[in-house]
Amino acid sequence: MTDIQTNDVDEDDIIDTPEQAASVSNAMSSKVEIIGGPPVGASTLEARDACAWFGERLVLEGVNLTMPKGKVTALIGPSGCGKSTFLRLLNRMHELIPGAALDGEIRLDGEDIYATGTRAQQIRMRIGMVFQKPNPFPAMSIQENVLAGLKLARLKCDDKDLLVEQSLIRAGLWKEVRDRLDSPGGALSGGQQQRLCIARSLAVHPNVLLMDEPCSALDPTSTRRVEETIDELRDVVTVVIVTHNMQQAQRVSDFCAFFLAEENQPGFVVEHGATDYIFSTPKDSRTLDYVQGRFG
Ligand SMILES: Nc1ncnc2c1ncn2[C@@H]1O[C@H](COP(=O)(O)OP(=O)(O)OP(=O)(O)O)[C@@H](O)[C@H]1O
Ligand SMILES: [Mg+2]
Repeated sequence: MTDIQTNDVDEDDIIDTPEQAASVSNAMSSKVEIIGGPPVGASTLEARDACAWFGERLVLEGVNLTMPKGKVTALIGPSGCGKSTFLRLLNRMHELIPGAALDGEIRLDGEDIYATGTRAQQIRMRIGMVFQKPNPFPAMSIQENVLAGLKLARLKCDDKDLLVEQSLIRAGLWKEVRDRLDSPGGALSGGQQQRLCIARSLAVHPNVLLMDEPCSALDPTSTRRVEETIDELRDVVTVVIVTHNMQQAQRVSDFCAFFLAEENQPGFVVEHGATDYIFSTPKDSRTLDYVQGRFG
């Protein structure tokens, strides 16, 4: 078990919560010029024997999962089986929780994100995250929201207008907001706010985007819009999405991993594979029971 003491999120006057800090990928360290050119592109993320603890309690055990480059992987399973914990392992957010510990490896294009000398802030810039509840900075303008991660990371950008436009187009929000980029982010609808958060994550050109139930607070129309956005992002980033909505998992994902925690036992992956397979002929009867709504 690796003990983690790290809490390297520098407080900034506009960050209220660790979630905001992480979702804007607050890399404080280096000045990197990344803007203006094409996005860096999607990466493969791979968990090897990943385990997670809260204090003495093992909550996730032995997760081996490859989330292929440019594909959408859905994480499904009943409440409390460790899906969010697993997502937080994937971008080094788990270590922000006091008493949290982990074991195993998480590899981004083959490189261990926990290797000695690797900075958590830089990893969170390459692996962005969108949360259940949209968390834009409500008083900031739409434009400032998109650029917030960049500003916090102190990244240089030659053409901010272009970056804002590109990010909003990729997030599927441009047409709805292009005439009011100076309006406050808080004035958008919930679904628009969620796409604004996606745009904010995309503005730093991550290789992977993690989404934890991104539509659970949204109405069906906004949900459909976010799903279209996810579909369009395939070429730009690898997406890992947690969802309780089985139809959504079927609609948006290429691959699916079924997590389960039996009573008082740590969560684990029962099986994973192509989404069609998981929803039609999975190997384990518990998988079919779950996806057909017989429990959970
Ligand atoms: N900060 C924390 N401190 C202690 N235990 C935690 C913490 N966060 C989660 N847990 C525990 O870890 C286990 C996994 O929780 P997690 O939130 O990852 O589940 P989940 O699959 O995302 O559930 P849900 O579908 O309800 O969001 C649960 O038993 C939970 O009680
Ligand atoms: Mg969760």
